[in-house]
Parts: sequence; structure tokens; C-alpha cells
Amino acid sequence: MAEGFTDEGKIWYNGVFVDWKEAKVHVLVHGLHYGSGVFEGIRCYATEKGSFIFRLKEHVDRMYRSAEAYEMEIPYTRGEIEEAIRETIRVNGLDACYIRPIAFFGYHHLGLNPIGCPVDCAIAVWPWGAYLGEEAAEGGIRCTFSPWRRIDPNTLPVKSKAVGHYLNSILASLDAKERGFAEAILLDTKGYVAEGPGENIFAVKNGVLYTPEADSSILPGITRASVIELARDMGYEVVEKRMTKEELLSADEAFFTGTAAEIAPIREIDNVTIGGSKKGEVTSVIKRKFFDVLNAREEKYMKWLAPVYE
Ligand SMILES: Cc1ncc(COP(=O)(O)O)c(C=O)c1O
Repeated sequence: MAEGFTDEGKIWYNGVFVDWKEAKVHVLVHGLHYGSGVFEGIRCYATEKGSFIFRLKEHVDRMYRSAEAYEMEIPYTRGEIEEAIRETIRVNGLDACYIRPIAFFGYHHLGLNPIGCPVDCAIAVWPWGAYLGEEAAEGGIRCTFSPWRRIDPNTLPVKSKAVGHYLNSILASLDAKERGFAEAILLDTKGYVAEGPGENIFAVKNGVLYTPEADSSILPGITRASVIELARDMGYEVVEKRMTKEELLSADEAFFTGTAAEIAPIREIDNVTIGGSKKGEVTSVIKRKFFDVLNAREEKYMKWLAPVYE
């Protein structure tokens, strides 16, 4: 996953394109010291019909809602950011890439209250393959329940994709890797299943899909919402409800969803094999459908794809 950057290309930075290496911040920006920034992770796919950004509007909209939670006013309209994202891909001549827009309180003072700090914005794009490795694409990954609980809505606005929130994800990820697992699963502060460090989670039992409700301690993912809609359209029942560890461990199948991870089957949790030796049939069917959508092969869902080159 952690491929290094090549240092090539252009980054959109406060409305202008700068060389990749020149897209710098001052060491005293507010966002660096206190994590006071918001960001998005978006993907652009190369298809037979051209390059498309998956659910661009929804991602940009979530970035604005993330910012509102911190009283941050992004000094561009949603439409301007959407167009800047398209333009950044075009300027870099890419047909498939990961897209990272970020807005953060900038350089002015270091009082905790960010009032008075400018809001700086940047958009970077680069090629990024399978986030959880080829294992995730193939047989599924080995996970562990994290000793770190997912941040609670009473302490932080968990629906905001804010920079500082990710310290919680970093701790869970470091712990999982140190103990030899590919990914962590975080419980909420009450002990119910929440999500992965950067993914939502689904379980399948007797052909029904289960996932923690959007109102719980999760970031309500855009992939999650897409999978729910696709699965329902395909005739599956999808139930959004609290999930216990036991329910997840006794599921027939389990998988992660996320922009970076896409759909990643979970093979084991703390050495318990999910669903015994059975193959994850429902996961495979949904994954196939999801990739058909991403590859512009499903007319009905073309509304989710924003063209880059028109
Ligand atoms: C904590 C967390 N949960 C879930 C997700 C999945 O969200 P999405 O499908 O919108 O990428 C992400 C990724 O953005 C995340 O960081």
C-alpha cells in the first residue's frame, strides 16, 4: 500500500497549479499542530467509455459537511472544487488515480481557536492500486479486533472526515500490523462493531447483509451507501443495525468497503475463519456488480460517474 510518491506532476494549491515539490506549508500552520483540517479520498477509474470519478458530488459534499462541523469556511464553491478536481486530473494527464482534496486552517496564529486563520485548500492526484494489497482482492484479509475503541460521537463529530480524527485510525492500524494482521476492526465505546481504520464493515448471514447504522460511531462511507443501494436493487435485504462481535464472528461472510479498499473480503478475525471454508458468494456477487458500475458497464448507475474529459 505505502508506495512512495514520484514527486512528479502538479498540485492544485489555493486555486493555482504548482509543481509537486513546491506544494509546501509553513511549519506553523494551525492544521499541522492541531489536526484542524478536513479531507476526502476519491477515486477516478479508466473505463472503455473514458475516465470517470466515482460519486464526485457526494465526496465534495461530505468535505463541506466535514468542514462545517469545525466552522471552517472553504473559500470556494462546491462546483469550483469539483471542477478543480477534474482539472487536476487533466493537468496531470492521468486516466485512473486516487484523488486527495484537503482544506485546513493555515498560517496566522497558534491559539487553539482557529478564528482568524485562513483556510488553505489543495488537491493532489496520483496512481494508487489495491489499498489492502492483492490478498484483499483475492482470498480475503486477516483482521483483528483493535484494543483501541473508535472515537465516540460525544467526543468528536465522527461523521466529519477530519484530519485529527485519524490518530485513532493510525493507532489501530499500527497495532494490527505489529501483531501480524492486515487490518484492524474497531469496536465503539459500548463494545459494538464500528468499522475499520479507513473502511466500513458488512456481515452476511443467511443471505442478508448487516452493517452498523449510519448514526453509530462510524464515518458513513460513500462506498457503504453505494453497496447498500446496489445490494437492495439486486434484491438482497440489507439491515443497518448494531452488531456485536459475536454476530460478526459467526457471519457467513464479512467484507470491508471504502474508496481506498473498494470491496475487500475478510477471511479471518483473530484467527477465527469467517464462514468456515465456504466461499463468500454474496460478497463476490456484490463485488462484481460494484466493479461493473465503476467500469461504466451499468447504465443505471452512470449517474454515479463524473466524466473527467468531456
Ligand atoms: C474511518 C473511515 N470509515 C469509512 C471509510 C469509507 O468511506 P468511503 O466509502 O466514503 O471512502 C473511510 C474512508 O474514507 C474512513 O476513513
